[in-house]
Amino acid sequence: MPKPAPPPPPPPVAGHAAWEDYAIPGIDVRLRRFLGPRRSGVPAINPVYQFREALVREIAWAVWPHDDGDWSPSLLCGPKSSGKTTLVEQIAAHCNIPVFRTNMNVGTTVRHLKGRRGARQGGTYFVPGIAVTAMEEGAWLLLDEISGATPPVALSLFPILEPGGEVHLEEAEPPRYVERHPDFRIFATDNTIGAEQEDTRFSYGGTNPEVNEALLDRFLSTVQVGYMEPMQEFTAIKATVPGIPAQELEGMIRVARAVRDADDIEHAFGMRMLIAWARRVASGTLTADGTVIPFSATGDDSYLLEQAGPAFLDRIRSRAERDSICEVIRRVFAIETK
Ligand SMILES: Nc1ncnc2c1ncn2[C@@H]1O[C@H](COP(=O)(O)OP(=O)(O)OP(=O)(O)O)[C@@H](O)[C@H]1O
Ligand SMILES: [Mg+2]
Repeated sequence: MPKPAPPPPPPPVAGHAAWEDYAIPGIDVRLRRFLGPRRSGVPAINPVYQFREALVREIAWAVWPHDDGDWSPSLLCGPKSSGKTTLVEQIAAHCNIPVFRTNMNVGTTVRHLKGRRGARQGGTYFVPGIAVTAMEEGAWLLLDEISGATPPVALSLFPILEPGGEVHLEEAEPPRYVERHPDFRIFATDNTIGAEQEDTRFSYGGTNPEVNEALLDRFLSTVQVGYMEPMQEFTAIKATVPGIPAQELEGMIRVARAVRDADDIEHAFGMRMLIAWARRVASGTLTADGTVIPFSATGDDSYLLEQAGPAFLDRIRSRAERDSICEVIRRVFAIETK
């Protein structure tokens, strides 16, 4: 007997029709994906990106809490180039969610976030700021280096960070309140790690520590993004730079770990540095006629140290730290001092 046809799908529920449940392959966390074609402003998917399940879970809780309570702004803390920004962007990329990203520094103004008046044909009109556009379009707003926000900018963020907060646009014509889209969410990243480095936070002149404490207080979800485990870091970099020989990459990751653990080196050893180093080492030298000469043909391992220079070493300001990192590289790869 033929099987009965499956029942038709239930009619779409008003207000939720645009979303479907979704999980990133291999990650056991329920997310939501916006149905339909790729929307404008959605970051591109990095096909070799390595998600860490615990971090994805934290983001999912902040964005779509499964107790049906309010969503919360999310603060991603962690050392330099540990993957804070790309975590938010890559989840958004999978979920078809546009991301508006901006950096908080002394030059970032309230007008940049909320909007300003522009001139046109003898009159003026309102140009919405990045936060207002994200709020009205239902995008994710990503504020990088939040500790760089000046007190007026920090104050202007307060109502934006509260799920039901009313944001008044004084410069709009006529002045009005922002119409919050229910899909709007907000994230911030910060290089310092939680309360541990409170002394060095917000360290430029003119900062009001109370304002900034109140700002951080509004991020009800904190995600600690540390460096990846060595095995996963290996997989991530090998996938990004397939040409890097396994043995060399293992050594590079050992160097990164030793530098991260060293008490006398404050400079962070992030993935960006590893990727830049691995790319150079994997690519060899290019001659005028297009021939590529692999470095390994040179016989000794000193090219690993030579390539570390332009990849990251030369940018490190402290000479003592540069020397310490050189020593670590020599030790790990058994490179003799010439
Ligand atoms: N999980 C990952 N898988 C693959 N590549 C990654 C991963 N995390 C980070 N990267 C790569 O490492 C680099 C740094 O990542 P990202 O910009 O997210 O770090 P960050 O913590 O925001 O850095 P910063 O502190 O400088 O803002 C990028 O080139 C990114 O592609
Ligand atoms: Mg970042």
